[in-house]
Amino acid sequence: MTYAHITGWGMAVPEKVLTNDEISKMVDTNDEWIRSRTGIAERHIAAEDESSATLAADAALRALEVANLKASDLDLVIVSSSSPEHIFPATASIVQDTIGATNAGAFDLSAACTGFIFATNMAAQAIRSGSIKNVLVIGTETLSRFVDWTDRNTCILFGDGAGAFVLQADEEPGGVLSAVMHSDGSGADLLTIPAGGSKQPATAKTVNDGLHFIKMEGKGVFRFATRVMARATKETLEEAGLTTDDLDLVIPHQANTRIIEAAARGLKMPMDKFVVNLDRYGNTSTASIPIATVEAFESGRLKAGDKVVFVGFGGGLTWGALAAEWSGPLSAEKKVHHGRYLFLARIRSVLLRALRVVEGLLWGDYGRKRKL
Ligand code: COA
Repeated sequence: MTYAHITGWGMAVPEKVLTNDEISKMVDTNDEWIRSRTGIAERHIAAEDESSATLAADAALRALEVANLKASDLDLVIVSSSSPEHIFPATASIVQDTIGATNAGAFDLSAACTGFIFATNMAAQAIRSGSIKNVLVIGTETLSRFVDWTDRNTCILFGDGAGAFVLQADEEPGGVLSAVMHSDGSGADLLTIPAGGSKQPATAKTVNDGLHFIKMEGKGVFRFATRVMARATKETLEEAGLTTDDLDLVIPHQANTRIIEAAARGLKMPMDKFVVNLDRYGNTSTASIPIATVEAFESGRLKAGDKVVFVGFGGGLTWGALAAEWSGPLSAEKKVHHGRYLFLARIRSVLLRALRVVEGLLWGDYGRKRKL
């Protein structure tokens, strides 16, 4: 039998940090209000030369390094994002090219903040089917580009960043154990970017009306989130034949501390079993779970053999959970083996980015001439 193991993980966040105090100079809010209602203290914001694809590629290269895998060994790249580079082509195609995943198919998956769970589950299913061996899953966001910085209801919440997992086939039991995926489109209007799609294409009027920005009915989303987090966790545990007592860690979507506390109460679990880092990153949407995972691993909270549940919710509405047995890092000996290759891959990624900037300056058209 084939199992899908999580063998690599990586994250990338922009250097620039935006604090609550800085936001309070832009809109009528304050640090105390934001911290007490959300738990957020600061978030990272992409610089001009950063985008969902560049952050994704950086996170991906780190995940490949941990997995000790060459990009050319990947069979599939799935990018989950609500702030893709374009309507098309897929951000996954751009990432696939940047990292040199020359043998991989690549596509985007859109399920808002739940996207990383859906994408990881799809990767695991594809591996278990026996058709592919190595998959890269990335959650990446630059939602700061879609935030109305005059709307205090939303601009306090979101941050930019990316996180990635490598999943690999192995006969050894473990890895992804179960997953549940749910959607309820009747709540689609609760969290949306109204214009810019085919229903309401971008016009001067939609831009004047601010319809290209995130619109959210905060209370409705809050109520929905507190209902589904514990429920989805229980469902996936049951499917895996586990109970909350078996769980070492829960890594929830990082939207609001009060939502995570409600989930802990619903599961009758102590908060110290939950990873919370939204104070430093805000809500990075689909990137939040892999970013929290990387930090949990690096701080020693997540160890090989641990049973962990990833659980999230978001626009759509969507929600889901995935249970896994954490596979742990590969041996140091194996890592050294590909160290040189990964160094070269990083250089290649930086050079490609520089090349595209030059192309943009010369032809004013992102990357068009490169392959002619
Ligand atoms: N600073 C100060 N006051 C603010 C504010 C801000 N940034 N944002 C809203 N307010 C005001 C409101 O205008 C309102 O004032 P009023 O009573 O005079 O009308 C008051 O604070 C309470 O607003 P309300 O919307 O009821 O606050 P809340 O307790 O529901 O908290 C959220 C708002 C957005 C923090 C909360 O609803 C939430 O977290 N929702 C879920 C959002 C989410 O997770 N989205 C992403 C999903 S993936």
